[in-house]
Parts: sequence; C-alpha cells; structure tokens
Amino acid sequence: MEGNGVSATQDVTGDSRGHLDGLWAAGKAFLGCEYAILGGAMSWVSERNLVSAVSNAGGFGVIASGSMTPDLLEVEIRATRALTGKPFGVNLITMHPRLDDLISVCLAENVGHIVLAGGLPSSASIRRVKDGGARVICFAPAVVLAKKLVRSGVDALVIEGTEAGGHIGPVSTSVLAQEVLPVMRDVPVFVAGGIGRGEAIASFLEMGAAGVQIGTRLVCATESIAHPAFKRAFVKASARDAVPTVQLDPRFPVIPVRALVNKGTELFMETQRAVIERFRAGELDQKEAQLEIEHFWAGALRRAVIDGDVDHGSLMAGQSVGMVTREQPVAEILQELVGQAVSALENRVGGPNI
Ligand SMILES: Cc1cc2nc3c(=O)[nH]c(=O)nc-3n(C[C@H](O)[C@H](O)[C@H](O)COP(=O)(O)O)c2cc1C
Repeated sequence: MEGNGVSATQDVTGDSRGHLDGLWAAGKAFLGCEYAILGGAMSWVSERNLVSAVSNAGGFGVIASGSMTPDLLEVEIRATRALTGKPFGVNLITMHPRLDDLISVCLAENVGHIVLAGGLPSSASIRRVKDGGARVICFAPAVVLAKKLVRSGVDALVIEGTEAGGHIGPVSTSVLAQEVLPVMRDVPVFVAGGIGRGEAIASFLEMGAAGVQIGTRLVCATESIAHPAFKRAFVKASARDAVPTVQLDPRFPVIPVRALVNKGTELFMETQRAVIERFRAGELDQKEAQLEIEHFWAGALRRAVIDGDVDHGSLMAGQSVGMVTREQPVAEILQELVGQAVSALENRVGGPNI
C-alpha cells in the first residue's frame, strides 16, 4: 500500500474524519450513504456487481442503463437490489427513445435517485421523476444551465470537467468548480472528472462541493465485470493516453469522447478522411457522410468492455487512469480515497488538529 499516503487498514477516525464528515454532510444526507462518493454510471461496466459493491462499501452506486430496454432495466434493478440493501441510483440517457418507460420502471421499482444524463432533460421528465417520488440529479455544464436546472426542480447537480472519461464537455473540472460551487448553494453539487485521489476530494469539498463522482478509478475494481484485457489497458495507461476524439472537419461534427488511444483511434481518423473525400467527390451527401462517421464507434464500448477487443473497441477512460495501478476491491479503493482525504485535512495548516 505504498504511495497512497495512508494504509488501507489505517483507522480513519478522529478529528479529521469528523471534519470530512462535516464537509460532505449534505451529500451524505442527500444520497443516504456513508461516503458522498457516487460511482458514476459507466455503460457496460456499471451493472449489478459494481453498483452493489460501491453501495455496500459505503459509496453510492449508479446503474448505467445506456441503451437498455425497460424490461432489461427492471431485471438489472432487481438483481442489484438482491446484492445490496443500501441505496443506489439509475442513470438514464435523455435521448433514449423510451425514456418515459424507463422512468416508469425506476419509479415502480422504488429507485430513490435518477440521474438524467446525455443532454439537458425536459422539464416534463424532471417533473415526472419528482411526482413519482424520486430525486433527480442532472449534469450542469455551465452556471446558467445549473441555475435553469435548479429552477426546473432538479434536486442535485453533477459538474463534470473535461478530464473525465466518456462523453465530455470542453471546460476543466477546476474551472467548472470555481464557476459553479460558489454560486450554487441551493442544491448539493457533486464534482466529477479527473478525481483519482482523496486529496482532490478534500479540496473540492472545501470549495463547497457536497461530494464527488468517480468513474475511471472504479473500472479496475475486482467486482467490475470489465474484460481482463480492458483492465490491463487501464493499468498500463498514463494520463496522457486518455485523449478526446478528434474532429477533422467542422462540417462533420464529432461528439467528443475521452478514451485511451488505440488502433481504433487511428482508424477513425482514416475513416473521417475517406468519408470527407467521398463527400467532396459527390459520392455521399452531407447526411450520409455524417451517418458514416457517427456509425464508426457504434457498439465499440461494448466490444472493448465485454469482448476485450482493446485494439478496435472504445477504451473510454479519464485522465485519472494514470492513478489506476492495479485491480483492487471497491472497498479498498474507497477506503484509500477517504484515507487520503482525511490525511489531507489533517495536514492543513491550522487544520482541526492544530
Ligand atoms: C467507460 C466509461 C463509460 C461511461 N459511461 C457513462 C454513461 O453511460 N453515462 C454517463 O452519464 N456517464 C458515463 N461515464 C462518465 C462517468 O459516469 C463519470 O462521470 C466519469 O467517469 C467521471 O470522471 P473520471 O472518469 O475522471 O472519474 C462513463 C465513463 C467511463 C470511463
């Protein structure tokens, strides 16, 4: 357990632990768990095993529903509940064609917290969740949108910086935190993107965050079903290997996704070049060309996570991948993060022990 600043067995009690508990009290109360750490939903990775492990270890697991049908989601919620008696949430993608049915399943299954991701949700969706008795968590990519979401009744916000794995916005976590945390005091705000150690958690809490959300750091958990080859790629990678997809031509927008560079990344560039060439030659119209580019990554995350095709699949990962050094049980990961946060608070000049 070298280099963590704390041993996994270290007893994280005392003044600084109490200080930490005070800092994230609102987050803990909102989520109903011991640590205000959300295990961010990761498509194909955040299923029953990882989600229940996060919740059982004191964090807040979130099922990634991705493109699941309502029936499959129902099965996953029930299976997760069979593995944990602790609270967990469900992440729904707002552009899913059956969003309303997915919300109905969550409400029927008494899911307490629903994360509406992948674009701004409609006021009607927010209302439905709230009227059904669940709490709504949304991603706020900027202060104005954060305020708008709160006006629409959202109960908590996640601000996710560009360091994160998966679909990303353009602004860094540190800048978003400075812009949003001082002004959004009405609802709990959770900070995500690039968090790999507890010192960062302590800092964001001191800035006013109610808690944090982590993704990349949990991919190599022992309980994660990600393919061993996918986990090996994470353990080998450093921060600079996790890069956003590159768009070659502004006429053909590419949704930015942060992932580890592999053969697929190269092939994507070649595909864009070839498609743009065919568009210029009049072989494809704008819409056909755009579709060919969009289809390139279809199914690619599943190919990497489940089938272990780390060459051509999508290795979505955040910059904190450099801090993933081995496979570890979720409980150990969370203990490490909490221990580091406590040590950081202990070491503050004028901190609780001085
Ligand atoms: C492999 C992978 C898949 C992800 N899939 C989703 C998803 O389906 N829905 C979502 O809202 N966020 C998704 N995310 C983002 C995470 O929920 C989380 O916000 C992010 O990983 C936090 O940043 P970090 O990776 O730096 O810890 C994904 C991230 C990764 C690494």
